[in-house]
Amino acid sequence: MLDAQRALKLLTTHGGNKPALCELLGIDEGDLLDLSSAVSHKAYRLPELPQKLLTELPYESAELRNIAADYYGVLPAQVLACAGSQAAIQALPRLRAKSKVLLPEVGYAEHRQCWEAVGHEICFYDGASRDAVSEALTKHQPEVLVLIHPNNPTADIVAAEDLKYWHSLLPSDGQIVVDEAFIDPTPGHSLTSCLHLPGLVILRSVGKFFGLPGLRLGFVLAEPALLRPLREAFGPWPVSSLAQWAGCQMLADRVWQQSMIRELQVQSERQDSLLRATGLSPRSTPLFTSLCLPHEQAENLALALLERGIAPRYYHQHPEWAWLRLGLAPAESMGRLEQALKDIQEGLPRRAI
Ligand SMILES: Cc1ncc(COP(=O)(O)O)c(C=O)c1O
Repeated sequence: MLDAQRALKLLTTHGGNKPALCELLGIDEGDLLDLSSAVSHKAYRLPELPQKLLTELPYESAELRNIAADYYGVLPAQVLACAGSQAAIQALPRLRAKSKVLLPEVGYAEHRQCWEAVGHEICFYDGASRDAVSEALTKHQPEVLVLIHPNNPTADIVAAEDLKYWHSLLPSDGQIVVDEAFIDPTPGHSLTSCLHLPGLVILRSVGKFFGLPGLRLGFVLAEPALLRPLREAFGPWPVSSLAQWAGCQMLADRVWQQSMIRELQVQSERQDSLLRATGLSPRSTPLFTSLCLPHEQAENLALALLERGIAPRYYHQHPEWAWLRLGLAPAESMGRLEQALKDIQEGLPRRAI
């Protein structure tokens, strides 16, 4: 019998914890369809590591900065590499005097936790529509606005015009943090063209689109004056030689990137249609499909999927709605997801995994 409390807790914290999921379900890793993380399962294949790399200390690489600037469409001076965008999410709140911070009510919880942990006052907006965020800005008068673009799990995206308008509602020493961890498959949506706005910081993750979260590589994009304190906060050698070298290969490989964008789009559309065919109404990005459901229904669906060896991610921050996020199933496992959803809909008992 599945321990529902433990299961939901596990699906609510970070995704992709395969050992813990398998222990909970009493199954082997090979039998788990882990959709709890939205990292692409089509990882970039790196060439053989030049061993010599590891005999040198990883000072900041100008080559990586230039390649990353080209990939993100910004100037090299606006680029700072870090050990995953999580490192910047943790560091940014420590660099500001106590402020009021406006965050999405539903979203990657680390933002909220990190601002709260060092004593900032937090408040929320509900959904990322122009009106919802504008109203919350007027009501709460924050100094910092956090946007997740596209939001994980709601798939909400932000228009450049809205960003500029919201910026105009902040005080002159205000800050906007835009987390673009999932934007790579839709590069045209990136807000890097707004980087001239004072106080704007954009976070990019290399782990999701390139499928290599274990590399721990991400970037902060901002004006050099904003990057300076972050560089100091990260300390010496924050990014390993392996990550810097891998970043140079992946970010320069335009052929792979273009073909992966197409592939993810096709897979995401397939998964979206599959969910719709079982009567659900997903909101999708090229890296995940999410379902917004009443709490009880979301809980039941999450547990029913788990009983079939399929792990979704579960978000229950919103008082009325819960979100289930499904990373893209590999092509060969789409049938399994489809069958599981049909069985759940028809109330059939689980098959042996
Ligand atoms: C929205 C969002 N931002 C940032 C991160 C951190 O990713 P990383 O540190 O691997 O770049 C995550 C991780 O899941 C995330 O979901």
